[in-house]
Amino acid sequence: MKILDGKALSITLQEEIKIQVTKSVAQGHRAPHLAAIIVGDNPASRVYVGHKIKACERVGFKSSLFQEPKDITQEALIARVEALNVDPSIDGFIVQLPLPNHIDALGVTLSIDPDNDVDGFHPMNLGKMALGLETYIPATPYGIMLLLERYAIETSGKDVVVVGRSNIVGTPMSILLSRNAKVGNATVTLTHSRTKNLSEILKKADIIIAAIGRANFITTEMVKEGAVIIDVGINSVEDPTRKSGYRLVGDVDFENVAEKTSFITPVPGGVGPLTVAALLMNTMKSYYKKFN
Ligand code: GUN
Repeated sequence: MKILDGKALSITLQEEIKIQVTKSVAQGHRAPHLAAIIVGDNPASRVYVGHKIKACERVGFKSSLFQEPKDITQEALIARVEALNVDPSIDGFIVQLPLPNHIDALGVTLSIDPDNDVDGFHPMNLGKMALGLETYIPATPYGIMLLLERYAIETSGKDVVVVGRSNIVGTPMSILLSRNAKVGNATVTLTHSRTKNLSEILKKADIIIAAIGRANFITTEMVKEGAVIIDVGINSVEDPTRKSGYRLVGDVDFENVAEKTSFITPVPGGVGPLTVAALLMNTMKSYYKKFN
């Protein structure tokens, strides 16, 4: 068993981005600029956005954080998005999800100019991705593609099972791995809450992408000897031995499953850090459209 060290790869990718930024700034261009809108005080969202802002500092990006009240109206939030759409000093921005229940999240996503949508959530960008056109790929699937590529994990002809069909992870992941591309050409099964015989399907998988959001959901008897496992889950479970009283675990019962696999991502330190690097890479792509 080998650990897929997402944290280390994220650091490498950020070092590569920093070299590109330094070079561009030395040529007289302004630094890349990523903005984030956060609504309310969801603690996980604050942590995630904090990671994104810190990463911007590390690679030499400018960042802006717009903290909006939890009772902001749909109109006011869209007005904020529209102001960022036309700000030429910003290369891309994100609206951190989830949004409060009174907000129509799709309506907000639709108001983002696709050229600034470095999350790749706008239907225009998701459509381009599905067609294999140049676009921003959503950060989590993009991070996983980079991980598979850099660890030279063969996907061509492999049986991949994606667990979870969310718009931001499972669905785009299944499309990306099905494409005729260097990382792709897999036979993908997208499974979800209505899937029958999930254990049987998983047992045949060469590669499992787990994005369900349930702690330790995938257990050793569901996994084929030598499978590759990418664990996207970030679940908080009680742990009285920790000062905080909890710890983060993935969707896979890592302790028991790991030894059966050929490669596996840990939680934390696997997919999570790569999503940050992938977001920076999307922002860099937008920046280069202006300055290269
Ligand atoms: N919430 C969880 N993941 C993401 C992400 O990649 N982007 C945004 N905007 N919100 C998220």
